[in-house]
Amino acid sequence: MSLHVDVSIRILIFLCTLLFLKECHAQNCLNDKYRPQLHYSPAKNWLNDPNGLVYLAGEYHMFYQYYPDGTVWGPMHWGHAITSDLVHWEELPIALYPNALGDIFSGSAVVDFKNTSGLQTGGDPPLILIFTQASGNTQLQSIAVSNDRGRSFGFYAGNPVLQNTDKTINDFRDPKVFYMNDKWIMSLAVKNKIQMFSSNNLKNWTKLGEFGAVPLQGAHGGVWECPDLLSFTLDGLKLWVLLVSINPGGPNNGSATQYFIGTFDGRQFRKTGIYQNLWMDWGPDNYAGVTFSNEPKNRKLLIAWMNNWDYGQVLPTVAWRGQMTLPRVLDLQRIDGKPRLLSTPAVEVESLRNLAQFYETTRPLWIRSRHDFTNDLQFNNSLLEVDGVFDTQLTINDPSATFSICFYNGLAEEVCVGYNFGTNNLFFDRSNSGDTSFYGNFGQISYANRETRNKILQLKLYLDTSAIEIFADGGYTTMTGLFFPTQLLTGVRVKFSSGIAVNQLKILSMTIRGLKSIYNC
Ligand SMILES: *[C@@H]1O[C@H](CO)[C@@H](O)[C@H](O)[C@H]1NC(C)=O
Ligand SMILES: *[C@@H]1O[C@H](CO)[C@@H](O)[C@H](O)[C@H]1NC(C)=O
Ligand SMILES: *[C@@H]1O[C@H](CO)[C@@H](O)[C@H](O)[C@H]1NC(C)=O
Ligand SMILES: *[C@@H]1O[C@H](CO)[C@@H](O)[C@H](O)[C@H]1NC(C)=O
Repeated sequence: MSLHVDVSIRILIFLCTLLFLKECHAQNCLNDKYRPQLHYSPAKNWLNDPNGLVYLAGEYHMFYQYYPDGTVWGPMHWGHAITSDLVHWEELPIALYPNALGDIFSGSAVVDFKNTSGLQTGGDPPLILIFTQASGNTQLQSIAVSNDRGRSFGFYAGNPVLQNTDKTINDFRDPKVFYMNDKWIMSLAVKNKIQMFSSNNLKNWTKLGEFGAVPLQGAHGGVWECPDLLSFTLDGLKLWVLLVSINPGGPNNGSATQYFIGTFDGRQFRKTGIYQNLWMDWGPDNYAGVTFSNEPKNRKLLIAWMNNWDYGQVLPTVAWRGQMTLPRVLDLQRIDGKPRLLSTPAVEVESLRNLAQFYETTRPLWIRSRHDFTNDLQFNNSLLEVDGVFDTQLTINDPSATFSICFYNGLAEEVCVGYNFGTNNLFFDRSNSGDTSFYGNFGQISYANRETRNKILQLKLYLDTSAIEIFADGGYTTMTGLFFPTQLLTGVRVKFSSGIAVNQLKILSMTIRGLKSIYNC
């Protein structure tokens, strides 16, 4: 049977190539239990961090931590998938297998336009992968090259290209490389800090500054991983954002990604401003996010592993385990006067809208205790894009008041996204979302400190079969979370609760769209 599937996939790929069909994929239909229909997941086996996100010649490449022999973490390989539209992915053969220097841990990829590496053999610039190899307690950096637009890869004969001189530290990993002022700059996670290196040729690396440990900066509840240093323009000035994933120690337990705002002079990142820990995403399931290199529209386009090390290896999926977030665009802007990172879903995701499945309120709705939108919709879909605008000012102030948008099924299972009027917090509640039994704390409610006090709260939600992405206030506060319902969640209702009887929730507008699966099922 698997031979038969292989042959039909080959024929499909052949037809796609022949007909130049952009939205044609090898993965014709994946719809096993909990299988995401909007988000990337591997057909089989274990996936974690996205690696080597890079655009080249019409294709976005995503590599990722992959174990091809099981659905838990094991000796790491680089899995590989490509897309031309950021929505429909095609899984390609494994790009990198472990070798004598070790397993293939996380890292990045660049297009070496100027042949600085000397590794270009053909007419097109080579793709260079820069990654950690791990063997026992040793972690070092290696590179590999592709001269055929990312279809085959060869290890550089001079590996490793960077080794740790401090033998007291085992954690020395996750190189993220970009080009600046005729040099390659690498940020690397070294236990509790980020070290910077530079190189002319991607082979020879010189240590620059470091950040995070002395003086102590940010959250340190766990090891630092997967840095990414990004430049933005704000008020006409260049500012830098350093992403640092941390595990454990996230704002809702386990894995999460913090960020720092500051300056970078080519050697040293320095934090500016006085702020407590900043989180790129407050939800339980957003980790190891990094951005694409060579993005054609110059966007800071990020994909993260939608999971948490607390329970990532025991999720109740069967053939596969692990999925990625939607591609998100990062930006740095001011909100309530403060510079803050914001994330919004890439505009390409809108191509999944089913134009026949559209509902919107035509006038404000006042809600005493609940309103069910399910019958208003005139369509039945568990893949939804919801845009709600809410008034957070009540007639009579009530700090105990809350509202939530809940997605539910006929078994009374539900996933809720809500707002707490007293604390100005957002929350994500999956306590009654179906299977939570595989991990004791999976059902705990997650909270996010909303970045603004604006009276108008905007919520944008993407609902998939087993995940939700929440973007509040245009993306200044985001939360991402998994859930595992017994049946699909196709109902939508809003609940409001206040101890003061005259209070009602004012929904200024509500738009609900049905989305199409990324598969042809
Ligand atoms: C890339 O650089 C190497 C080393 O300088 C050189 O041998 C090779 O010919 C160059 N490749 C191309 C296509 O120019
Ligand atoms: C690295 O740099 C050193 C000194 O600058 C030089 O001797 C060596 O050949 C370089 N190695 C590579 C692989 O470029
Ligand atoms: C999760 O976080 C909460 C709040 O910080 C804390 O009280 C609880 O002990 C944590 N649970 C675990 C398992 O770490
Ligand atoms: C909507 O679809 C779900 C899942 O396919 C199904 O369980 C439910 O009965 C449907 N609801 C209606 C009103 O047709």
